[in-house]
Amino acid sequence: MSDLSLTILAETPNDAHAIERLLERTFGPGRFVLSAYRLREHVDHLLDLSFTAWIGTLLVGSVRQLPICIGDTPALMLGPLTVEPPFRGRGVGRALLDRSLNDARAKGHRLVILVGDEPYYSRVGFKAVPKGRAIMPGPVDYSRLLVAELVEGAFTDVSGDIRPDWSKAR
Ligand SMILES: CC(C)(COP(=O)(O)OP(=O)(O)OC[C@H]1O[C@@H](n2cnc3c(N)ncnc32)[C@H](O)[C@@H]1OP(=O)(O)O)[C@@H](O)C(=O)NCCC(=O)NCCS
Repeated sequence: MSDLSLTILAETPNDAHAIERLLERTFGPGRFVLSAYRLREHVDHLLDLSFTAWIGTLLVGSVRQLPICIGDTPALMLGPLTVEPPFRGRGVGRALLDRSLNDARAKGHRLVILVGDEPYYSRVGFKAVPKGRAIMPGPVDYSRLLVAELVEGAFTDVSGDIRPDWSKAR
């Protein structure tokens, strides 16, 4: 951002309402049928690894991460990532991603997966999951299932069903 006023903060419970409205405007009610939401039904996102973007007192973006497993391996699922339309194309999404991935790595996480556009997320290290290596709990376009290794080689021997991390289930 060129105007110096962008602040990235860890999400707090007070942000929930504003984030819900942002997600509703961006994705609409259809978001609840996406496979990624099936995982979100069972585990809450981690507030200390979910972030909000602010310009002054205006919430302009949000990213969340929730605890999952791929087979027996703990990982994070990133998303949704959303930026208010008037503030897109100014680095807000990138700032939210950088903060999420850096803090996840600093807290000892090794793998992050998401469902999204490879041309966008490849900028921060995501690659397509090789076909059949990780299975979502519902229909998904597998060309959009992406993984980032926060530690080199962390995905090498990992495979299996993607499921909520039941140890963190509600
Ligand atoms: C995707 C999104 C979060 C990006 O936020 P942003 O703040 O505009 O992103 P940044 O400013 O960091 O990056 C902008 C760059 O990414 C590119 N970009 C944005 N969306 C892209 C996409 N889907 N595929 C490829 N490139 C994309 C822009 O063209 C721009 O490129 P440039 O730097 O070469 O000009 C935002 O557009 C958004 O909220 N979209 C709707 C919700 C959505 O699709 N979320 C992702 C779901 S997986």
